[in-house]
Amino acid sequence: MKMAVGCDHIVTEIKDDVVKYLKKKGIEVIDCGTYDKERTHYPIYGKRVGEKVSTGEVDLGIVLCGTGVGITNACNKIKNVRCVLTQDVCVARYAREELNANVLGFGGRVSGMGMIEDLIDAFLKTEYHPTPEKDAVIEAINGLIQHDPACGKEDLFDDLLEKWDRGEYHD
Ligand code: RB5
Repeated sequence: MKMAVGCDHIVTEIKDDVVKYLKKKGIEVIDCGTYDKERTHYPIYGKRVGEKVSTGEVDLGIVLCGTGVGITNACNKIKNVRCVLTQDVCVARYAREELNANVLGFGGRVSGMGMIEDLIDAFLKTEYHPTPEKDAVIEAINGLIQHDPACGKEDLFDDLLEKWDRGEYHD
């Protein structure tokens, strides 16, 4: 099992704990960053994790930001990604089994590490139970993606980061 993990600067230390937890379970991890507390922007890391899942470079992903909302939204914009934001083990299990969720998202400022570990365990222990109907819905969801030529660009958020540096951008 290979997983990609990503976060913004708000929750770097929690992401590091998640990476340690996964490695302790024998999972190979690609840490997509961010790696320190320097101010950055969550879509960059949602996109990075989503792309690794989408291309099949990893089996599953985990993303986290302060609330989990921003980074899961960004991740879900990548084709083939089905990212679930939850604080509930039952939802983590259902999302995997019925909806074939392939990225798990948390709010690092909302959920504690104990809960996060339980959510990861539930997500990883559960397998997708495919049916032609569920697969057809997933295919239809993929069809919703609107292709934007800017999509593949790594520097997509550079202008926002620069505004932040100049003190012009607040979230
Ligand atoms: C900080 O950028 C904060 O907005 C982010 O961590 C997250 O909480 C968004 O959902």
